[in-house]
Amino acid sequence: MRVLSGMRPTGKLHLGHYFGVIKNWVSLQDKHETLFFVADWHALTTAYKKTSELQENIKEVMLDWVALGLDPKKSILFIQSKVKEHAELFLLFSMITPKSWLEWNPTYKDMKYNLLKISDMEIQFRGGMRDLVKEFISKIPYKVEDFEALEELILDEVSESFVKAVFDGYLESEMLKELNVSKRDFYDTDTYGFLGYPVLQAVDILIYKANAVPVGEDQLPHIELTREIARRFNYLYGDTFPEPEALLTETPKLVGIDGRKMSKSYNNAIYFADSKNEVEQKVMRFFTDPQKLRKGDPGRPEICPVFMYHKLFTQDEKVLEIERDCRSGKLGCVECKRIMFEGLEKVLEPIREKRENLRKDMKHLEDIFDEGSEKARNIASKTLEEVREKMNLK
Ligand code: TRP
Repeated sequence: MRVLSGMRPTGKLHLGHYFGVIKNWVSLQDKHETLFFVADWHALTTAYKKTSELQENIKEVMLDWVALGLDPKKSILFIQSKVKEHAELFLLFSMITPKSWLEWNPTYKDMKYNLLKISDMEIQFRGGMRDLVKEFISKIPYKVEDFEALEELILDEVSESFVKAVFDGYLESEMLKELNVSKRDFYDTDTYGFLGYPVLQAVDILIYKANAVPVGEDQLPHIELTREIARRFNYLYGDTFPEPEALLTETPKLVGIDGRKMSKSYNNAIYFADSKNEVEQKVMRFFTDPQKLRKGDPGRPEICPVFMYHKLFTQDEKVLEIERDCRSGKLGCVECKRIMFEGLEKVLEPIREKRENLRKDMKHLEDIFDEGSEKARNIASKTLEEVREKMNLK
């Protein structure tokens, strides 16, 4: 079975990426023929105005992938834009894909709604930001130990994604009213390329005749569309492409330091590129049970983000002890976080070290992806020859 998946290069990876995606990819390497690629052209479907960070983001992803155990001896690791064959097949698929398939794609509709044109707005609205941030933090169902530090952090790093998060939620309509603008003004994605996103994804998959595609649930409509394009091609020009299956993995939702889903947009992520010191600071800022105000107060591990981390990173016997001592009040949050930090560092440290070593020899890392791209091109060009022939293009 041939397994393929891709990821847009949105920057360095965090723990959530590992538990949600990469861990699964790493284990698939031993059981199947695997191809994993950085979908840099896909990144352009939304971030086409800001390409200045694209190369840096690709490098970060390459570093993280290899540091986390994707192995060029087992998998073909490549960069989408280095295999130009994707572009040719994209053109050909766009000829046979009914426009309505794309317009009805739920991801398209959602994304269009969600991706607000924030960068232009950020400036306009920094003024009202502090109040928003205050209100935002006050709604978070966990105890914020250092309210002001968090507020400053958010304000300092106020990123388009944070604003997006605000917009995604209940504040949206008020904000829009206040800014006196229509949603329409915010769309950045009214482009031909964005509409064609799933066609390009279908290309990524079908050009390698992949049988299985490990993805999250949000990607299911794309896989379905890939199957439809394969069927249509096969019907029009003769059997060529297998219909790929989605390999849905249960992704244990990893929370960030504020107890919400870990995400770059929420400014709550722990990155593999973070230094030990940065990780420590983040761990110390972790939200805990809001009812446990001081050591001695009984805590509720079942709702505590720190405890979720203990379950992943602390030795089993110790976890039971922590659970008991938190409930009784014997264990304070600061001490509890210390223990969690130690366990977390046991996992992060070797990865960080590997990442740093890889960074010292970027040429070597680039060679890995160049060689992977070459191998990918070999497969892709064969498919294209077949496609050209079937379509009477030669
Ligand atoms: N759309 C995917 C995502 O956002 C990335 C992607 C691009 C992909 N091409 C792919 C995933 C092909 C699987 C197969 O996560």
